[in-house]
This record gives sequence, structure tokens and C-alpha cells, in this order.
Amino acid sequence: RMILLSDYQPPDWRVEALELRFELDPEDTRVHSRLRVRRRDGSAPGAPLRLHGRDLQRLSIAVNGAEPSPGSCVEDREGLLLSGLPDAAEIAIETRIRPDANTALEGLYVSGGSLCTQCEPEGFRRITYFPDRPDVLTRYRVRLEADAARYPVLLANGNRVDAGSLPEGRHYAVWEDPFPKPSYLFALVAGDLACIADRFTTRSGREVALEIYVEHHNRERCAHALASLQRAMRYDEEAFGREYDLDVYMIVAVDDFNMGAMENKGLNLFNAKYVLASPDTATDDDYVHIESVIAHEYFHNWSGNRVTCRDWFQLSLKEGLTVFRDQEFTTDCTLFGVKRVDDVQRLRAFQFPEDAGPLAHPVRPDRYAEINNFYTMTVYEKGAELIRMLRTLIGRDAFRRGLDRYFQRFDGQAVTTDDFVAVMAEVSGRDLAQFQRWYTQAGTPQVTARTRFDAQAGVLQLDLAQRTPPTPGQHEKDLLQVPIRVALLGRDGRRLSARLGGAPEAAEWVLELTAGEQSFQLRGLREPPAAVSWLRGFSAPVLLEAGQGTDELAHLVANDDDAFARWDAAQTLLRRAVIARVEDAVDPRLEAALTTAMAALLEDSAVEPVLLAALLELPAHRELMESFERADPVAVDQARRAVEHSLFAPLAERLAARAPERARWDDGAFTAEAMGQRRLLNRLLAVRVAAGGEGALEEAARQYHEARSQTLAMGALAAVNDRAEPVRGELLADFERRYRQDPLVLDKWFALEAASQVGDGFARLERLLEHPGFRWSNPNRVRAVLGPFMAQNHRHFHRVDGAGYERIAHYLERLDALNPQTAARLVIPLTRWRRLDEARSARMRASLEQLAGKGLSKDLADVVERGLAS
Ligand code: ARG
Ligand code: ZN
Repeated sequence: RMILLSDYQPPDWRVEALELRFELDPEDTRVHSRLRVRRRDGSAPGAPLRLHGRDLQRLSIAVNGAEPSPGSCVEDREGLLLSGLPDAAEIAIETRIRPDANTALEGLYVSGGSLCTQCEPEGFRRITYFPDRPDVLTRYRVRLEADAARYPVLLANGNRVDAGSLPEGRHYAVWEDPFPKPSYLFALVAGDLACIADRFTTRSGREVALEIYVEHHNRERCAHALASLQRAMRYDEEAFGREYDLDVYMIVAVDDFNMGAMENKGLNLFNAKYVLASPDTATDDDYVHIESVIAHEYFHNWSGNRVTCRDWFQLSLKEGLTVFRDQEFTTDCTLFGVKRVDDVQRLRAFQFPEDAGPLAHPVRPDRYAEINNFYTMTVYEKGAELIRMLRTLIGRDAFRRGLDRYFQRFDGQAVTTDDFVAVMAEVSGRDLAQFQRWYTQAGTPQVTARTRFDAQAGVLQLDLAQRTPPTPGQHEKDLLQVPIRVALLGRDGRRLSARLGGAPEAAEWVLELTAGEQSFQLRGLREPPAAVSWLRGFSAPVLLEAGQGTDELAHLVANDDDAFARWDAAQTLLRRAVIARVEDAVDPRLEAALTTAMAALLEDSAVEPVLLAALLELPAHRELMESFERADPVAVDQARRAVEHSLFAPLAERLAARAPERARWDDGAFTAEAMGQRRLLNRLLAVRVAAGGEGALEEAARQYHEARSQTLAMGALAAVNDRAEPVRGELLADFERRYRQDPLVLDKWFALEAASQVGDGFARLERLLEHPGFRWSNPNRVRAVLGPFMAQNHRHFHRVDGAGYERIAHYLERLDALNPQTAARLVIPLTRWRRLDEARSARMRASLEQLAGKGLSKDLADVVERGLAS
């Protein structure tokens, strides 16, 4: 059954207040719920009240103290439908649930020794009957009761207003959240947890208690999360004018969690992997991710909680905006210029393929069968790109005023992406009607660009064209408003000044492409530009093809002052080299030019280490696959490796010479400088090993054994993971021995073993699934094994006889019985069969069809069906 945006109806009933009492117990939890409801003004007279409910055992229901007649209280697939109600009523319901039988990890479930919840988007209906939709906001008062010895900590949203003991070794706590909220933001936690606490004083003087709850043995690994939270709170005040609004902000780390984390009001639940860190158990990337997820959830307090979504089609209203906000934070506080490179890399490797495949959907979808399957790269990451484009188009000042107005006007409301854009149009005085199409139209636009220089007139003409390919259900595409930031570099590598239209002279311009084909003139040029720097800062999420020659691109690689554009020029050259090899047309001239360019970069001490590391990296396999209508993934992997080898083999000495001093940077310090140096160390090591340089494997082994920071240990393991034994085997076995008891670190071992293409990958996969540290019930473990096997182990996953696909399909069927949401995510690689060579394509499709024939969950069935539809 499809849910359609066009069917949206405002709720007929408001919930004026909600009281919940939980008698907590893993095998038998009783939920007593008391709702005060009132018919909304203007609602259809006599409209029934819908209470959603799923897998609940209803023990009793009373309307204004009396049991409703059977005809006025009907249970159906969605829950309960109450009719014949007076305009205001109090409804009391008692339900029974079994958290320990909940393996889907939605609603109330058990993780480790704790009880915890995940309600977004529709988990609350697995706890009690309620209008479980984001446009029904109410105040919650929650009383938790549990065994005091087993669950000494009892948490819910808001402020704790009462606590005490009860007979029979039980105790209770009462929590009140003063802010009306939708049910998806409800949370509770009961457990035996350590609390790591600190404080934060907001700029208007509110004292906020910050509390991180973890299992006792993890208490030493919370310092980074706590410091990240404090930085994020300060940043949101300074950069966005947003202040915190409760007396306490809590974070709880949970081992079993479907996603990254959840922004429940005042009580964030986190996948433990995004909280726990110490230099010997977490890499720099882990540190950066933790900081960004902590910030992301904190930023949701305004973009999501204070202003929430009217319905789930509007998910990007909160997610796109919050991703944008966390990206800004990481850019300004931690990674600076290279953040954009990291984000674009991810977007191209994951969102572009989504937009070009069978699961493509607009940032604001208009239909869904299962909303859980729309927590996607498109809604999150492309959604963030739309926000960034808005800022580019209306300017930073107007954008900031627009955000202020948005938060002020819609505080306490559930609104739409249209509302957001309307505010931006209002503050800027610009017509954003065409821009709105970015929200409703799926697919990555293709932009082509050509230039012509008139030396006589000193005018550079730029001819642009746009086209968006069809996506499922959207065959005709409209023209978009595309901001394209450009600059020109002269022979000496410096930017040239010119005039665009009637504007004053400048050295960088934003071309607003709105037509199918459009020309722009840059006037007043005294010399011919040596290179055009296109799409600076990745100003729009498009595929831009400018037909630039090797010399022009090499000039950009050597000189561009925009980190993204510089990196992108190198990526274009590298991509061309790989494509040529895939097509059996090795381009020696191009590869030689690349070697020369790389040699120059290695010599250039002005290139920051972190940027150099990015410049030395080839486009990801996933991204390269997108360059072809159909391709043999094993051949693409081999071509990629061949280019890497041929490019860097002649540079072995320079690569070794450029390596930063290892002992000096091996300290796990969370500074941009230290992390940049370690990134470069690891990148150089990987390239040296790939180039087959003498002593490179030995150097990797040395780096592994001597490493104090996990960043350098993991860098060494990653460098050798696809190399012949014995070095690989020895190092990985050592790592497993060291971290056997540490699930989050062991996940990295699982991931490396699953990804390795050497030896018998199938036998290894079986062994991983039998490993004592593996559990099918834990999403992190399952993702660590199956994810890298599909994404990186091309030789085995893509075995021509289809054995890899069959095996994965079989595992997913098994996983689906436990955890549909995680199964529905992991199946996505099997939907890409159209892009494979014919033999593999048929086999992958067959595996997907076989899976479709099984009794699948709604989650998994939805992805499988869309993956098969033509
Ligand atoms: N709102 C959360 C976040 O982005 C994600 C929760 C998604 N949960 C889910 N079950 N789909 O931070
Ligand atoms: Zn989010």
C-alpha cells in the first residue's frame, strides 16, 4: 500500500496532554497511557480518532472512564479506530509489550542489560496506541517504574520532577517535557549505566547539565563525545544563533542500534560507535564522525524538534538542514577545506548512484510504501546540498536572516519544505519557484560547459547546457536553477579578473543556469585564461562535463586555490585514465602527465598534507562504476589498480621521502594538523604498497607494530589487506587477538576480513559469521561483515557464476526475520544489476527475484520490488 503526499489531511484530533506510566520488565512491560483529546476546530464533524498500534497486546481501554462499545472501538491493521466520541475526551489504555522479543529494534527493546527505545519514524506505535504522526504534538509526563537493582538509571525526555522507591525492590522516576513534541521524539532508557557529566552555560546564562550514559567499562571513552557536545553547543550559538532550552542534555550509548543516533528531546540515543573513543581504539575518522553525529543530533534540537515535520514526506526539512548545519560545523571547527572534498566524495559514491538507479526519489518524495526506506543519501545529503545552493543564490546574509525568521515563525509547529523555501524567498526578495523543483525532481542533472575566447574583444564566452535523465516514475524533467561558481586562472596560476554582465570587476562568479542552454560573457580579460575552474566548492550537486584537456586540468591541479576544484581536476584526469584502461585503450600520454603532476605535488611544500592525501587518491570503485552504462566490476577494480600502479611506481622514492615523521604524529591528537599528517602517512603507505615499491610491505608491518594511534594501525592494515600473504594474515591475526573483547574495534577486523579479495573469500566469510564475536542480532556486526563484502570484495561478491549474490540473498532472508530495517538497507547493492555486464546482471537479478519469492518483511519487500521494477 502506497502512502501519497497528495492524500495528506491534517489530523482531526488534537492531543492536549499525555501521561504515560511504564511498569518496565523485559518480558512483560505494562504501558498505561492517558490521553486528553479534543476535536480540532474545522475538522470533519463526527470524524473518528485514529490511534496507531502495532504488535501490542491491549489489556484495557476506557473513554471518559467507561469501556467503549465494541462498535465504536474497532481494531484494524493500523491500530484502533474510535468513533462516536464527544468533542473532548479522556482515553485510558493499558497495553502489554515484550521488549526482549523485539529484534527489529523499533519501539521498546533490550540492548545489553538496558531497556531503550527508538521511535522515529513509527516506533511509538509499538509501545502504545497513539496518533503516531509528526503533526500531532503534545506535552508528555512519563513515570517509569522498574527493579531498582537491575535498572538503577531511569531516563525520559525533559526534566526529572520526582523519583523514589517502591515496594519489592522497585523504584520510580517521573519526567516532564515542557515542550510539546510528536511521538517520534519520545524516548526512555532504563539500565545500569555510568554517567559522565559536565556543564555548559548558554550565552544567556542557562546552566545546562550534560550527561553521557554508557556501560560502566566504557566510562573512560567518553571525553571526546563530551567535548564535541560542548563545541557544538557553542558553535550553534555563534554561527546560527541557536541556544539550548532545557536544564539537562543527555546522551545514552547503545550497542544495538539500527542507525547512527536519534535526537529525542533532551535524551539522545546513540549507536555506541558514535560515542566511544580513545586514541588506541578509534581512528581519526571515527573521532570526526563522532563529533559530527554528536553535533548533528544536538542541532536537531532546533532543526527538527522545535520546528518539526508536518508529515514524513518532509523528512528533508529537518535532515537536509541538519546535515547542512553539521557540515558547516565540521568545516569551521575541524576539517576546514578538505571537508568539502570528503563530502563530495561521499555524495558521488553513494548519492549519485542512488539518483541514477531504481531507488531514485526526490529530496521530498511524494509516495512511499515504507518510510524507513527513505532515510537515504538523497533526503539527507542531497537535501543538504539544496540548502547550500539556497545560501549561494540568496547570499550569506539573507540566508542567515531567513533561518532566524524560519525558527521564529514556525517554533512549536510541524511544517513543510515549501514553508522553508518560502521564508528564504521572502527575506531575499527572490523568486525561488524554479528552485523548488530541486525538491520534487529526482535524478542528478548533467551540465555541459564549453568556452570560447575572443582575444580581440577580451571576452570569454561560456556556453552551458543542462539536462536531467529520466528516473523511475519521472520521465520528463523540468529545467532547474543551477548555481555554478567559476573562476579563471592565468598562465601564472593566479586568478584573472573580469566583469560578468553589468557587475563590477571580480575574480569569481556565480553563473545562474536556468535555461536548457545559456551563454554568459566574462569581459575585460587582458590575457587568455589558461584554465577555467568550474563548479568551485561544488556549488551544485550536478555532473559537470567541461571537455577540458589534459594540460588545462593539470594546470588546475597545480594551481587552483579552491581545494575542491583542485582535487576535482585531479579526479577527472584519474577517472579518464581508469576508463581508458577498462576500455582496453591505455593512454600512456595521460598516465605520464598524471605522474608528472603527482611528482610536482609531492615536491610542492605549499600543498597541505591533508589536501595532498586527497589529491593522491583515485576515484572510488563505486563512483567509477557510474561512468559506464554497464561494466564488469572486477575489470573496473583491476583497471583502477593498474592505473594506481603505473602512476606511482616511478615515484617510489619521492613517495617515501614525502612521508611525515611517523613517531612525531603518532599521538592521536585531535587537531587538524595532526590528523592531516596521519592521513598523508596512511595515503602514502597505501600508494607505495599499491605501486609495489621495494620495502613497502615491510614498512606497513613496521607501522602497524609500532603504532600507538589506531589511525596508523588501521592505515597499515588497510594498505596490505588486498596483498598476498603472509604479511596480511599475520597482522590481521594480531589485531583480532588484541581486540577480541572489544566489539566496536573488532568490527574493523570483521570489515577488513570481509573486504579482502585474497584467498578464499567465501570460506573466510563463513568463518566470520561463526566467530564468537559475531551476532546476527547486532546491526553493527552484520553491517561490518556483509557491507564491505559487497562494496569491496569484488572478486567474490561479483563472482561470475553468481555465487556471491546467492549467498548474500540467503543471509538477508535470514536477517530479515530478525531485523527488517537493516536487511532493507543491506540489500541495496543487489538492486544495481542493470549496471553490470550481462552475465553478472542476469545472475544478480535472479538472486533478487528469488528473494522476492520469499515471505519478506514490508521493509525488505519494498526495496526488492523497486529494485526489480523496470
Ligand atoms: N533522525 C535520526 C537522525 O538523523 C535518524 C533516525 C532514523 N531512524 C530510522 N529508524 N530510520 O539523526
Ligand atoms: Zn538527523
